[in-house]
Amino acid sequence: MSSRILNRALHDRLMSADEAAALIHDGDHVGMSGFTGAGHPKTVPLALARRMDAAHAAGQPFKIGMWTGASTAPELDGALARANGVDLRLPYQSDPACRDRINHGDMDYIDLHLSHVAQYAWFGFFGKLDTAVVEVSGVLEDGRLVPSSSVGNNKTWLDQADKIILEVNAWQNPALDGLHDIYYGTALPPHRQPIPLTRPEQRIGEPYFRIDPAKVVAVVETDHPDRQTAFSAPDETSLAIAAHLIEFLQHEVKAGRLPPELLPIQSGVGNIANAVLAGLNNGPFQGLSAFTEVLQDGMLEMLESGTLKSASATAFSLSSEALARLNADLASYRGRLLLRPQEISNHPELIRRLGLIAMNGMIEADLYGNVNSTHVMGSSIMNGIGGSGDFARNAYLSVFMTPSTAKGGRISCIVPMVSHVDHTEHDVQVIVTEQGLADLRGLSPKKRAALIIERCAHPDYRPALNDYYQRACRGAPGLHTPHLLGEALSWHQRYLADGRM
Ligand code: COA
Repeated sequence: MSSRILNRALHDRLMSADEAAALIHDGDHVGMSGFTGAGHPKTVPLALARRMDAAHAAGQPFKIGMWTGASTAPELDGALARANGVDLRLPYQSDPACRDRINHGDMDYIDLHLSHVAQYAWFGFFGKLDTAVVEVSGVLEDGRLVPSSSVGNNKTWLDQADKIILEVNAWQNPALDGLHDIYYGTALPPHRQPIPLTRPEQRIGEPYFRIDPAKVVAVVETDHPDRQTAFSAPDETSLAIAAHLIEFLQHEVKAGRLPPELLPIQSGVGNIANAVLAGLNNGPFQGLSAFTEVLQDGMLEMLESGTLKSASATAFSLSSEALARLNADLASYRGRLLLRPQEISNHPELIRRLGLIAMNGMIEADLYGNVNSTHVMGSSIMNGIGGSGDFARNAYLSVFMTPSTAKGGRISCIVPMVSHVDHTEHDVQVIVTEQGLADLRGLSPKKRAALIIERCAHPDYRPALNDYYQRACRGAPGLHTPHLLGEALSWHQRYLADGRM
């Protein structure tokens, strides 16, 4: 019997990816594992895409509704998007082929707070889940499953689906066994109880998924790597953003609003977030902890150096070099590193209780502190809101970061009015660009506008922003949040027409 599949009944259901994919049908709702390129199924989706291509070539319809943890990888999102085989996808995605399908109107997309997805499935808001396709790193003798390199919504998919297809991936490190904390204490309202977590590194669940073995219709063995995320070395802009933020945190410690070891940190994805983590690693703080969504390179480096005592997340999102280092030493992280379901890693109750410092990227912010994290020029999706809303609304301190300009300076990331709102002015406390940092706490909208222009806007756009703001203060019908409505989105219109704001 394969050393990864110790349960005889499940071992008997071994089959090829093509045979497993044949159990998925047009119109099915399919819950796939996968979160930021970690722990997604690697062979069944490719086989499914081949079936879709064949059906489409024969003039037959074949599309599924696809629910995931978050973004996946080319062999899942990319393959199914290229086959035009997804009718509706949720939640967060970042695959170029998938993004194109959505923006061309071929694929419907629901962009949700990541903490909401599991509970909405339990509430029945998305309809019935037909099949779960979940990567695991092993099957125990009693049929429980050793989770893979992400947890995401897998517990919910395994519980809710009528049928389960498992991919058992021998590439995943056997030392993952014991690293997970799967909480089975959630319930539907009005039966919910407090979630008993008071420290980021605390265990409240068990290391394995429980399943009903009778629902498993296929087990497929694989040996394929996760998608690895390439990070670029921090540039001048991201280093400047990191420096402003670290200086601010030092100031908050001096003012007694943060303890010397800070509060647990949450960090978004991308190069700027990674540069901030590198800055924290070389900075003045020690004994930090993280209660976050993904563990990326910068956080691993902080664990390695000891700056970070512990990290709780739902997935890894690492470069190949960082992943090699982690895999070489994974067992030594026992007790310091935990992967949890995303309904727990991103849970508002826990984020509020622990008092996080939430640091996320954005596309643009406006004069009053509203933030757009998801849309380009009002209509096209970039990725999705991910966990940024879960964290920003409930954190002790919510920080949004961006370079002050995009597309070689042709776009100002500080605009009169954002072209889409993900985080309202009520959820945004600090805005940072390479130009500086605006601390918006305790400021009225007009005071915020003056500070954001002065501290965060690029000098090339500052005069035009000031001019708009001054004219709005004279000509707006109300002076609480002054706007000239006919002009507020003209910057975006100008970019669409002339290629420059
Ligand atoms: N208008 C138009 N395009 C813009 C823009 C703006 N104001 N600001 C940035 N962009 C473009 C960039 O040019 C770049 O485009 P490219 O891919 O064609 O080069 C792209 O957006 C990404 O920008 P970049 O500066 O590389 O930032 P990033 O990698 O840090 O990503 C977000 C920024 C907002 C897209 C990313 O942080 C995100 O998806 N956030 C939402 C989810 C989230 O916060 N998750 C973490 C929560 S746990």
